[in-house]
Order: sequence, then structure tokens, then C-alpha cells
Amino acid sequence: MRVLVTGGAGYIGSTAVAILQERGYGVTVLDDCSTGHFESVASSARFITGSILDSKAVAEALTDCGAVIHFAAKSIVGESVEKPDLYHEVNVNGTRNLLSEMARLGVVKLVFSSTAATYGEPEVIPITEESPTKPTSPYGTTKLAVDQMITAESETGLAAISLRYFNVAGAFNSKSGWIAERHNPETHLIPNLLRASAANPLKVFGKDWPTADGTCIRDYVHVVDLIEAHILALENLEPGKHEIINLGSGGGYSVSQVIDAAAKVVGHEIPTQITARRAGDPAVLIADISKAKKVLGWTPTRNIEDMVGDTWKSQNAFASK
Ligand code: UFG
Repeated sequence: MRVLVTGGAGYIGSTAVAILQERGYGVTVLDDCSTGHFESVASSARFITGSILDSKAVAEALTDCGAVIHFAAKSIVGESVEKPDLYHEVNVNGTRNLLSEMARLGVVKLVFSSTAATYGEPEVIPITEESPTKPTSPYGTTKLAVDQMITAESETGLAAISLRYFNVAGAFNSKSGWIAERHNPETHLIPNLLRASAANPLKVFGKDWPTADGTCIRDYVHVVDLIEAHILALENLEPGKHEIINLGSGGGYSVSQVIDAAAKVVGHEIPTQITARRAGDPAVLIADISKAKKVLGWTPTRNIEDMVGDTWKSQNAFASK
């Protein structure tokens, strides 16, 4: 089967493309390269440069595809607070356009890249798929609106699974080299802490959170484990059904604990500087992943040292090029 991967030039999307190809799937990528990198995608994939807002590009990309994995989105929590309209336009209107073209062309299988940010500040930890959805950022609000749109679409036959990611990290050593996070500017904790220096220390966004060490707790999941869940989701789609499934590791690390784990991996202390809290950050996010285990038969196998270690190796590989 050929799969359309929207946002296939981004960090998670290009990892999906490489793993899908290694598993024998045909892949078409639709990406406007606004944040992704064309060169992250092997030339054996069909590449359409365009936006999910462009119906013509979407229709062209859907040619011969039996399913869609939809990653294309604006995805930075802090940026979404500053640019809510942009997030609504790309994430909500872009997905509406994609779903319309899929319906028009009879493509009825969808795996959607949703997020833990749909839950907002949780009342109970760990977070299950039944937990209340009260997003604290426009990013979370737009992804929740898309989940709701997909539920409505499934009532007319769409087979869909929304995967709600917690904190994705790590890198993939594909046949053609490392695929890793290369955001500009980089906002994520692990790539940032690996680049910290005495002159440019890692900014720790608040040490006054209601957690044991005062820093925020997140549930980190390795990007390769995450993509394995997408392939299982693709293989478990049921017509007329929309499942929402959390993807994390089921455990949490504070920012300080991630910094300590990274210091062990790289063999030296990570220089840090405590700053004010960042807008839109909840204190603690930890997933209940029992539904992913039950419905998809998925269990993540890579730990925080693997995530830091693979990011470290990929950064070194890019630096030596
Ligand atoms: N952090 C720092 N300094 C940094 C970067 C991050 O202290 O330089 C802290 C943040 O405040 C947060 C934690 O590290 O407490 C993780 O922050 P990231 O920016 O790496 O990730 P987020 O938790 O903001 O967001 C990520 C994804 C979202 C997703 C969310 C769900 O980017 O798409 O996880 O848990 F919604």
C-alpha cells in the first residue's frame, strides 16, 4: 500500500517515511518545507512540495494512496500563544481541507498526529484518553478541534486513529543516515540541553513548579517507538471508527532529571540558568498508555538514556558533515 505522509519532511514525519519505506510501504510526502527539510526524505519517496491548505496539491499527493498519516501542522506550544490565528489556519483549516479531499477521492484511512496538549493541566495523573480536555494553549485547542472533526468524519465511514503524543525525543539512524530534530529556532529540551555551554547555558523555565524538584515533569517517548505505534495504528484501522490513543512511556522525568541523565550520557555537567516560567506549560504530563498496549499491542522499549544518546549521536554526525 502507498501511504501519504503529510509533513513528511519534519522531524517525526521524516522518521515515519524512513521506517515505512524500510517496512515495504510506498510513500508519498506532502510538505511545504516551511519547517521541514526536503533532504530529510529519501529520493525513493514521491515528494509533493505544497501546503495542506492547497486542495490541488493535496489531491495530487493523494494519487494512488490507500491511507494518510497526517503530521503536517504548526506544533510549538510557546509559538501558538503568540500566533493563535496561524495555528488555527494551518492545523484546523488545513486538516479540514485534507479531510475534504480524502472524502472526495475515496481515501478512507487516517492516522492523525494529535497531542497531550489537548488535555491541558490535568486533574489526575496519569492521563487517560477519558481525561477532560481543557487545552492551555492554542496549539492544544487546534489539535483538539481536529480530533473532534475526525470523530464527525468517522460517522460517515472514515477509519481513523488519533495518536496523542506526549514528549517525543531521540533520533533514528536510517539506512541513509541520522534523522533528527532540526528546528530553527530549537525549542525542545533535549536538543537544547545538548547544545548548552558555559556561554550559552540551558534556560530552565521555572524552578517553582509544584513538583518534587520544582521543575516540570514530562513523559518522554522515543521517536522510533512512536513511529512503530503509527504503523500498528495503520494496520488496526476499522471503518467508521475513530480511536484516540495516548503515546508516551507511562512514566515521567522532571527537567532536572533529564539534565542529570544527559550529563551521564555526555560525561560532563550541563550548564543551566533558571529563568521565568514559559507561557502555556503545564506542570506535569504523564500518559496512561494501557490503551495503546491493548488496542495496538504496542510497548515502548527505548528509555531516556536512549533518547538523549541518539540525539547526541545525531548532533555529532551533523556537526562532522
Ligand atoms: N524546557 C526548558 N528549557 C528549554 C526547553 C524546554 O526548561 O530550553 C522545559 C519546558 O518548560 C518543559 C520541558 O522542558 O517543561 C519540555 O519542553 P519541550 O519544549 O521539550 O516540550 P513541550 O512539553 O513544551 O511540548 C512537547 C511538544 C508538544 C506536545 C507536548 C506534550 O512540543 O507538541 O510535548 O507533552 F504537545
